[in-house]
Amino acid sequence: MSSIIISDENQKPVTVRSIQDFKTRKEKITMLTAYDFMFAKLADQAGIEMVLVGDSLGMVIQGHHDTLGVTIEQMIYHTQAVKRGLKRAFLISDMPFLSFQNSKEHALENAGRLIKEGGAQAVKLEGGNEFFETIQYIRRASIPVMGHLGLTPQSIHDFGGFIAQGKNYAQAKKLLEDAKSLEEAGCFSIVLESIPEELAEEITNNLHIPTIGIGAGSFCDGQVLVCYDLLHLNADFLPKFVKPYTHLHQVVLSAYKTFVSEVKQGIFPSEEHRISLPHILNDDRLSSKKKTNG
Ligand code: KIV
Repeated sequence: MSSIIISDENQKPVTVRSIQDFKTRKEKITMLTAYDFMFAKLADQAGIEMVLVGDSLGMVIQGHHDTLGVTIEQMIYHTQAVKRGLKRAFLISDMPFLSFQNSKEHALENAGRLIKEGGAQAVKLEGGNEFFETIQYIRRASIPVMGHLGLTPQSIHDFGGFIAQGKNYAQAKKLLEDAKSLEEAGCFSIVLESIPEELAEEITNNLHIPTIGIGAGSFCDGQVLVCYDLLHLNADFLPKFVKPYTHLHQVVLSAYKTFVSEVKQGIFPSEEHRISLPHILNDDRLSSKKKTNG
């Protein structure tokens, strides 16, 4: 029989330092996305170490085909809601498309808003060595930064779609160099998305900071999933690298259908769900009451 070791560390609020300690003692790190209070609260209660308000909200909350239209105001709004659901987990907020690419000053301003107005404890941004200075600039304001390499969704037009990265030597070499560069710039962790497992292993072994994989195999220091994917909320689409831990679309659909049917049949609301007037008032039928104006 196998047993899971849960250390005392798992009870304390997660910090940048404790995330680093996970790598040192080779304990895997878990991260999930959340976009609202209720799902954040559940992730926190389940013992997830890091909660990410991903710009994937453009797709899973807003229904767009990509993440490019998400604004900094939308990120702040969702981060505030998620924040209220967390007691222990470390909260990271995504820097949306064009919120950090223009200039390092603009990047710091937006990173600062996610921290100050949103309540995030760190920001995540997509890209490699080209953002070395930007990351350093944000770090100077003591804002923790998480990197994101591989299939970075904000670059889909450059990639030609949602296509796995690092599958040839040149790409793999660049990703390894980028990862080292992000560490040197001051990132506390890096998300590796949709890259070959062997490359993710090589990157992980070459870094002191933890790597968090999504579609990057089993050798990363931690794993992240979009919460709705893990729950299989969308029956029409599930990325190949996602393991559905339940099939929530069936559960929700079935509950909604039962509600429709019960309302139509007059089954709901039943006695126990009704609010009745106190007897004393009920005896004196409201409709027959006459107004007495003095
Ligand atoms: O936006 C997002 O949800 C992400 C995760 C998939 C890592 O960046």
